[in-house]
Amino acid sequence: MNTPVSFYQHHGILPGVHKVDDLRSHFSQREALFRQLGIVPRLLRDARILDIGPGGGYYALYNLAQRPRAYVVLDRNARAIEHLKQTIAPVLHPETVLTFRCADLLEMAVDDTFDLVICEAVIAWQQEQPETFLERVSAFVAPGGVLLITCMDSASWLFEMLRRLAGRLITGHALALDARLALLEPVFAPHLHTLAAGNRLPAQWVMTNLLVPLVGGPLSMGTAIATLADDFVPLGSAPHFLTDWSWYKRYAAGSGEYWREARTQYHRNLHNLLDQRRLHPPNPEEANLELLAACDWACRHIQAYETDPDVAHVREAREAVARIADLVRVYDPEVGAVLCAFGRALDDHAKAGAFLFPDGFAPLFGRTQQHLSFVRRVDAG
Ligand SMILES: C[S@@+](CC[C@H](N)C(=O)[O-])C[C@H]1O[C@@H](n2cnc3c(N)ncnc32)[C@H](O)[C@@H]1O
Repeated sequence: MNTPVSFYQHHGILPGVHKVDDLRSHFSQREALFRQLGIVPRLLRDARILDIGPGGGYYALYNLAQRPRAYVVLDRNARAIEHLKQTIAPVLHPETVLTFRCADLLEMAVDDTFDLVICEAVIAWQQEQPETFLERVSAFVAPGGVLLITCMDSASWLFEMLRRLAGRLITGHALALDARLALLEPVFAPHLHTLAAGNRLPAQWVMTNLLVPLVGGPLSMGTAIATLADDFVPLGSAPHFLTDWSWYKRYAAGSGEYWREARTQYHRNLHNLLDQRRLHPPNPEEANLELLAACDWACRHIQAYETDPDVAHVREAREAVARIADLVRVYDPEVGAVLCAFGRALDDHAKAGAFLFPDGFAPLFGRTQQHLSFVRRVDAG
């Protein structure tokens, strides 16, 4: 099967490889992220850490610089592990016991547990069954330990999916990967250049965001929270919008109150994952659940079209985009209008065979990936 891992291996691409020009600013970004997640630097010192799917190791640098006691790297891509060894060499401390395991997480026995388990950019659209995979990841967290994951839902990833659809319409299904990359790089470079803080080269971004095959489906924050509800309590999120107003003396661990509250807050705010430029007041939960369902509808058909070139999928995606446009227009008329125009661009393609992005589409990017942290309850089974 064409999976992200086989795709990366076949084309000699290493995910999680970035240029490390300025270690200090990289570390301050990571420290800020971890702080939002409730993981201050001293918590990493002397900790036992499992890093699942670190790729080339760019993000492992910060963790290792904090001098954990034990650091286990688990990735099923052997080349990624070799690259990681070089990446991390400058920050390694002799006190840290490093272990490398080249294996598929799903085939590993849970023979050890850790103070911190990190699993970034490994689950959504990369695993056949994201929830089962998440359960497996969580089994490696020791009682009282922390789990750090990333989520992506079909709203936060919608504009990338619309770009993937447009890319398919522009290149067709028959071209080889290199030819598709050559055609798409100049189309999408202006989109990427609208992102001020972007540190990715257009060709690399087109490969890893638009051309890498998708497997399974999204992992929304709501699904992650529900999947872990029995054994974990939420710790933090980035973006940091989950809040808990309950008084600690009334908060009984396992009561499920904060879980329900955290899911509700996600549901009421998920429209803010759609467009990273904007921050709107919370929406009614039902309206946002409809929005998420319409985004799921669009993403499902775009994903299906990538392996099954049946135009019925494009028609379904087009209907879903019209529905999304109606729902978005209520709180953001400008973005609603661009989505409407994207629908018309799909109609024009169906009639004339050419696809042109509408005005205003280039700077539309979601808050693609959300980080979430959880603590395993000490009284959990
Ligand atoms: C997109 S990369 C993410 C790299 C890094 N964590 C980051 O955030 O940049 C996904 C990594 O997870 C690894 N991976 C995916 N599925 C896996 C599995 N089932 N078991 C072990 N590693 C896996 C891949 O080999 C790849 O190195």
